[in-house]
Amino acid sequence: MVFSHPEFDDHQLVEFVADEASGLRAIIAIHSTVLGPAGGGIRFHPYPTAAEALTDALRLSRAMTAKMAIGMVPMGGGKSVIIGDPRSTKTTELLQAFGRAVDGLGGSYICGEDMGITPEDMDVIGGETKWAVGRASGSGDTSPLTSFTVFQAIIAAAEYTWGSRQLVGRTVAIQGLGAVGGRLAMRLVESGARVIGADTDPNAVRRAEEAGVEIVGTSEILDVACDLLAPCAFGGVLSAETIPSIRASIVCGAANNQLATSADAGLLHARGILYIPDYVANIGGVYSGVGGLKGKTEADAMTKAERVFPRVLDLLARAEEEGVTPSEAADRTVREIIARARSSRLGSR
Ligand code: NAI
Repeated sequence: MVFSHPEFDDHQLVEFVADEASGLRAIIAIHSTVLGPAGGGIRFHPYPTAAEALTDALRLSRAMTAKMAIGMVPMGGGKSVIIGDPRSTKTTELLQAFGRAVDGLGGSYICGEDMGITPEDMDVIGGETKWAVGRASGSGDTSPLTSFTVFQAIIAAAEYTWGSRQLVGRTVAIQGLGAVGGRLAMRLVESGARVIGADTDPNAVRRAEEAGVEIVGTSEILDVACDLLAPCAFGGVLSAETIPSIRASIVCGAANNQLATSADAGLLHARGILYIPDYVANIGGVYSGVGGLKGKTEADAMTKAERVFPRVLDLLARAEEEGVTPSEAADRTVREIIARARSSRLGSR
């Protein structure tokens, strides 16, 4: 039952989508539209069970509300999951059927790419609905701006921790050298950091090696000796199992939902590890996606992306002042923004 699901947080709408002809099975979750239409990516993944797909849709859509609020984007949070292996079950018909489902929501949910979905797939979906961003033919790849905002968050965390944003002589470990992690690695190498990385994909490894990244095994990357760890592969990597052996003083990366549970923010804090909430650091993807939707220019998106640096410093100052973790400080800020928006909505009725 959705209403008693542990991840259910008064989500406004959860839609189960099926299309017999194409075999589509998807869930679209709209967590909140208090700040505006719900935005969030489509994750195409071979979930072993529909229950796991639902859990992901509920968690990720809620995180999108937080991401939009703290990133000052006038949008709410949503997310959709398509159940299946994108390598074998993704067809044009299936993506079109999904696009029609999004269209049926009349703009209350605006979709973009996430794991298992490419800008070309967004073109297909966008053929059925105007509520789709991140198209190859439009705003395109969101990963360059995501890697940029993660970098801004990293240098802000460096300034807070070490009194300087300079990364010369610092060692950064990156888990996942894909679209975001690979670009982040190059930026870090350019700024003089020593970069250690790991990826399961030999092509990603080769590209990173060529850019000057030292490669270690995927089972070693989380506990390699480093100053900063950047999880850029998948969520849930910061847990009671992994946190005790992390040797970094800062964790700041792109992956969504890095904390396995919200209690893990406390475990990191107790170990003296500064954790920058993922949704504060990886907001760049939203800025480029929203830019495409509203016809805004790349320069607009870049201006917003540059604000991540002062935003992280403000957040860390609040956390210190209130004696809470940066995650709790971010959550408090989100709750305040939403409460303000809700009361001004009620007031204008
Ligand atoms: P990607 O799919 O291009 O890269 C992920 C990389 O992680 C791949 O190269 C993959 O081979 C690697 N990987 C998988 N398992 C691994 C393991 N066990 N150890 C090490 N590496 C492993 O995805 P992308 O776009 O770079 O996104 C990375 C993360 O950032 C994802 O969690 C995504 O949800 C998140 N994110 C991405 C945004 C974007 O604009 N692309 C925006 C916000 C968040």
